[in-house]
Amino acid sequence: ALTAALADPVSGQPALKHVAVRIEKFAARAFGFAVMRERPEVIAADYWAVARCKGGWRVELAFADENIDWPDFAQSLFVSPEAELLAYHDRDAGQHRIAAFEGERLAGALFVAPGPVAVSRGWAAEQLETAHAGQRERFRIVAGRAGADRPDIGAIVCSCFGIGANQIAAAVGAGCSTVGAVGEALKAGTNCGSCRAEIRAIIGAGRVQAAE
Ligand code: FES
Repeated sequence: ALTAALADPVSGQPALKHVAVRIEKFAARAFGFAVMRERPEVIAADYWAVARCKGGWRVELAFADENIDWPDFAQSLFVSPEAELLAYHDRDAGQHRIAAFEGERLAGALFVAPGPVAVSRGWAAEQLETAHAGQRERFRIVAGRAGADRPDIGAIVCSCFGIGANQIAAAVGAGCSTVGAVGEALKAGTNCGSCRAEIRAIIGAGRVQAAE
């Protein structure tokens, strides 16, 4: 932890907001993003942040050194020694992508790049719940993108209905100019309503683009 666990003496609530800290910029030489079905027991990276996602877990990673045995690292994340690995390496460009399959199911996928990884988080998480029977589907994972027949829905904005930012932007482009109109077209924003502010922001961004 960055700070000692101090509690407010009256309320018992964490009182961390006024604690002095010393921070330094971390110079990452490699960045990674991974999805996996099981939560990894150990993550041997200099920086990592793990979170639940549809179908399993997702991890953002950064490394101070790029000279790492990436297939080995991937296997340590996927906790699946029997899985079949499919990999792409471009050492000069610092790009490495590794996917592990157990039968038709994806056990995990790791994407490594010299800068922040440009892979759709929503799409990658979705792959954990998709069957990958053929080589073509498996190569798509290693390519790090959806096929032309499966457009990327973008980051999930409305979790009640699983609607992504790209779907909302497309609806706005097709003429939905209010939160209500987006709701009628996609259902997004019509349940708990916590995504309505974000939908409004996408509509606003669409207006700015249209005016330019
Ligand atoms: S998150 Fe969109 S309606 Fe609940």
